[in-house]
Amino acid sequence: EAVASMPGVERLSVDLLVKEVGEAKALGIPAVAVFPVTPQGLKTPNGKEATNPENLVCRSVRAIQDAHDDIGVICDVALDPYTSHGQDGIVRDGEILNDETVKVLCEQAIVQAHAGCDVVAPSDMMDGRIGAIRRALDAEALEQVNLLAYSAKYASAFYGPFRDAVGSAQSLGAADKRSYQMDPANTDEALREVALDVAEGADMVMVKPGLPYLDIVHRVKEAFGVPTYAYQVSGEYAMLRGAADRGWLDWDKVIVETMLCFKRAGASGVLTYAAPEIAKLLG
Ligand code: PBG
Repeated sequence: EAVASMPGVERLSVDLLVKEVGEAKALGIPAVAVFPVTPQGLKTPNGKEATNPENLVCRSVRAIQDAHDDIGVICDVALDPYTSHGQDGIVRDGEILNDETVKVLCEQAIVQAHAGCDVVAPSDMMDGRIGAIRRALDAEALEQVNLLAYSAKYASAFYGPFRDAVGSAQSLGAADKRSYQMDPANTDEALREVALDVAEGADMVMVKPGLPYLDIVHRVKEAFGVPTYAYQVSGEYAMLRGAADRGWLDWDKVIVETMLCFKRAGASGVLTYAAPEIAKLLG
């Protein structure tokens, strides 16, 4: 199924996903990140489907690992594709419960890691989850699984098309995620969040969104020198694609230029929906 707000991006069934990952591998893309669409009937207030070892993500990871070597699989750790209210955590009386959510995130990371993913990537922004997930994985003898922490994730309107794609926009309604995602006005807070996640055992950190937040990418890389990734998010993709589709921008040139900008700012790598196209353009 096409995603209307992200032309060129499609929701795939597991068989087609496996094929797509093969193409990514052939293009030299080092890793893929999988995101699920959960049927409405499986969404609950506590996001229980997230910890089901037979959920769509776990089945997809197993299918990819059975079919392909030499390409990394990254799983998103957060409850929003699974909750009926669309928040990344458990909610009581209108508040996101940090510590109760962290317990569920640990279980979610464990089922994903047992399914065979190489990297778990908590994108939920709950405090203390990196240390808790690291300990939970190690206790299950999953110490080889890497942790990519979304450390500096802002409460951004650039996530709109993604929320359409995974179907959390409707559940979220007029609510926002500003009690746990960062204030776009803050910069020092990003460094404090990264420092905490690195101390808790993150192997890599992520700044998100990407291009509008390159100052943060640069500061994080300068301050810590750890593998620093940037996420070119759905809204960034949509605005470039939308303009290019109307003939207002040269897609090939502009998308490659954005990669150069990420690299110039100090990013170690970029998570982007345009990866296969960029890989082809770069030969
Ligand atoms: C939520 C999550 C979001 C994205 C990845 N994981 C959106 C949100 O916080 O609502 C956004 C990615 C994108 O916009 O491309 N855990």
